[in-house]
Amino acid sequence: MKNILHIISSPRMEVSASRKLGKAVVEKIQEKYPDAVVKERDLTKNSVPILEEIHVNTFFTPAESHSPEQEEINEYSTGLISELQEADIIVIDSPMYNLSVPASLRAYFDFTSRAGYTFKYDENGPKGLLNNKKLYIAFTSGNIYSEGPYQVYDSNVPYVKNVFGLYGVSDVSVFRAEGLSIPGIQETSLEKAIEAITID
Ligand SMILES: Cc1cc2nc3c(=O)[nH]c(=O)nc-3n(C[C@H](O)[C@H](O)[C@H](O)COP(=O)(O)O)c2cc1C
Repeated sequence: MKNILHIISSPRMEVSASRKLGKAVVEKIQEKYPDAVVKERDLTKNSVPILEEIHVNTFFTPAESHSPEQEEINEYSTGLISELQEADIIVIDSPMYNLSVPASLRAYFDFTSRAGYTFKYDENGPKGLLNNKKLYIAFTSGNIYSEGPYQVYDSNVPYVKNVFGLYGVSDVSVFRAEGLSIPGIQETSLEKAIEAITID
């Protein structure tokens, strides 16, 4: 039985393209693995806080020395990490927001990128600790970044891949619905991206 973790980051609801694309990816995975269990982590509900000094200090203080407040922060962070550890398949909705990922997703990475949990350092540098997982990225954008003059601004998907690369997740498939603000392309982009989903 497969555990799927679906990470959602668009602040928009019904009109969100990345929610639709990510949902379609999850449904395709469920077609392949009908008994898969899906856990949703909607980062726009109960948002992960923006990183403050107390959080950083917590992450770099041994658990046995945590204050009660730090204990609570650590429990929250390791709870998010447990969801990643338990997942066989991770689907992440990653829409382009101001040439980056939505702030909710960045905050999530700040609470899950932790030495000793998702990666560690040895004499060869960083080493991921989340191995043997599959990652699907559902990317949506107003412009086109996979080719053409704006390819140099293709910052979202490489960033998400790099974070998960740090965690040790290297088996990645990307589905893109791009040009959602471009007349002539926007009408069919999402539909075509959904049709193109293949699960390996
Ligand atoms: C606040 C905001 C910022 C955006 N910034 C960009 C951007 O920098 N580049 C781009 O190509 N599209 C941008 N867009 C368009 C979104 O990437 C596009 O609408 C995408 O579908 C958003 O995902 P969502 O529909 O799941 O919210 C932006 C949209 C919003 C609402």
